[in-house]
Amino acid sequence: MSVSAGQIPDTSVLQAIGDRRSIRYFDPDKKVEDWQIQTILQAARLASCQGNINATEAIVVQKETCDIWDEIEECVSGFNVQMINQCSHLILWLTNLNAWYGRANDGLSSLALSGALTKYHGWNYEFTMTQTVPRLMSFPTERTEILLRFETGQALGSALVASASLGLGNCLLAFGRKPGGVEKAFGLGPNLKFTWGHAVGIPLEDAKAGGQRPRLKFEKLFHKDTYGNPLMPDAAVDAALTDKGMLQEQAPLPGRMEEIDALAAQFSRDPGVVSWPEKEVKRLMADDDWDFGPRIRTHAEEVVAAGGLPDYPEEMRETFQKLMEEHGLDTSKYLS
Ligand SMILES: Cc1cc2nc3c(=O)[nH]c(=O)nc-3n(C[C@H](O)[C@H](O)[C@H](O)COP(=O)(O)O)c2cc1C
Repeated sequence: MSVSAGQIPDTSVLQAIGDRRSIRYFDPDKKVEDWQIQTILQAARLASCQGNINATEAIVVQKETCDIWDEIEECVSGFNVQMINQCSHLILWLTNLNAWYGRANDGLSSLALSGALTKYHGWNYEFTMTQTVPRLMSFPTERTEILLRFETGQALGSALVASASLGLGNCLLAFGRKPGGVEKAFGLGPNLKFTWGHAVGIPLEDAKAGGQRPRLKFEKLFHKDTYGNPLMPDAAVDAALTDKGMLQEQAPLPGRMEEIDALAAQFSRDPGVVSWPEKEVKRLMADDDWDFGPRIRTHAEEVVAAGGLPDYPEEMRETFQKLMEEHGLDTSKYLS
């Protein structure tokens, strides 16, 4: 079915950013429409990319029509299997390294012809062709891969927000069970890197998915003028962003745990969420870096009070300590 402009929701960008969640329960009987998939892909296509080289591609897969579905399913991480089978479409996002080597020249030319690359900023054809482009093209693939995977991330960020603006459910998916398996299944050349899987579907869980998931505090992430000098958020701005729908109520909203159990019962899956040890839950709740609201704190207290939590795997302590120390992390914070 096609669509007219009047049928497309007018969700604001800030509202869509606020509405976006990783949705993990999809209605297996409902399909996302072609125009919606097209809108998601257009959002990715319009994302900024270095030198206009267009390195992000995608294969849109449907279980019902894809001949190699079983092969794809074998590659997805175990905790994502249910999702790929219940979502409407699976988008496999690819990063084409050849874009860097093959399209740098044409990408820049397209920008010049568009009136984007100008002499004002010091661009000149001879320097571009004798210095800039050859230097860029001499980068090893390990370096271009890092640069271009970032672009695919950019494209995906736009795609997720566009999809959320249409009220669709999305979840990015790791395909860690068989590294290289997706590329092999589709017979992709070494220039085509599979970056992420992306499930799109009609949410079966409430669209709020139990509330916005907590993040670190704003001022722990953002710094002013020098690293470590906290950039403080303005409470009045946050209040305005709340009114605009960008900042929303934090998880878990009332009824979330019951919702999870009801969804599990519907598909004969295990109820409940995963538990962490009591000491770990308490340590996390006391960590000043996190922006934890009253709901998650109350829920943590209830979880601890209910008991039956697992023990910390002491046999792993040394391994965790070694891994953290390799990165110069303060292990006393995490491994008291
Ligand atoms: C690159 C990337 C890969 C992810 N892979 C998975 C995944 O394999 N399975 C999953 O359930 N969620 C996955 N997620 C979703 C994150 O767990 C999720 O974004 C995070 O829990 C924050 O929740 P929110 O997206 O609802 O804000 C992934 C997210 C990103 C950005």
